[in-house]
Amino acid sequence: MGRVTFALAKGRLANKTLEILEALNIKPASFSDDSRKLVLNSDDDKYTFFLAKPSDVPTYVDFGSADIGIVGLDTILEEGRDLYECLDLNIGKCKMCVAAYPEKKDIIQGNDWIKVATKYPNIARRYFESKNKKAEIIKLNGSVELGAIINLADCIVDIVESGRTLKENGLEVIEEIFDISARVIVNKVSIKTKYEEISKILKGMESLL
Ligand code: PRP
Repeated sequence: MGRVTFALAKGRLANKTLEILEALNIKPASFSDDSRKLVLNSDDDKYTFFLAKPSDVPTYVDFGSADIGIVGLDTILEEGRDLYECLDLNIGKCKMCVAAYPEKKDIIQGNDWIKVATKYPNIARRYFESKNKKAEIIKLNGSVELGAIINLADCIVDIVESGRTLKENGLEVIEEIFDISARVIVNKVSIKTKYEEISKILKGMESLL
C-alpha cells in the first residue's frame, strides 16, 4: 500500500478539514498550532500531511507532490489546474460576488469600462467577459475590500461568507457569481496508482456527509 499525501489549505478551512480527517482516523502524529514543522506523518505512517497556502494546493496536487488536496472551489476555478475534483465536502460555504458601494451599481451594470480589484483575476476576467462587460482587472493579494474603499477600483470580485466585512465598510453585493464550498481534489495519476487507498478515503469522507 502506498502512502497517501494530503495537501491541506491553511486558513479558514484548516480546522474543519482536520476534523473531517480525524473523524476517519486519518491524523498527523502531532499538529500543534505553534509548531513550525511543515510536513507531518500519521502514527501508522500511512499518511503524510502538509498545510499550504490555498492557491498552492492545486499546484501540489497537479504535480503529484500531493495525492489528495482539500481546498475551496474558488481556488480550484482560479488556478484552473488539470486534476480530478472528486467530492463536495459541504464545508467552507461562501459565495463569489461582485461588491461595491451601492452608488456604483449603475456604472458596474452599464456599458462603460470599469476597474475591478480582486484576488481572483481569472474568475473576474471570465465573469465580465461572459457578460460582454469591459473590465480592467487589478490583482490584489488580500483585504480586497480596500480596493473599493480606497477607490482603486469601482468594484471588487471576492468571497463573501458572513457579509460582515462588506457591511462594516458600507459595501454591498451587486451580483452573485457562484456558490463556493470545499472540494476534494485528486491527482490524475494517483487515482490509478493508489486506487484502493484513495477510494477508501473518499468513501469515508462521503459517509460523513
Ligand atoms: C476573505 C474575503 C473577505 C472576507 C469575507 O478574506 O476576502 O475579505 O474573508 O468574509 P465575511 O463575509 O465573513 O466578512 P480573508 O479573511 O480570507 O483574508 P484576506 O483579506 O487576506 O483575503
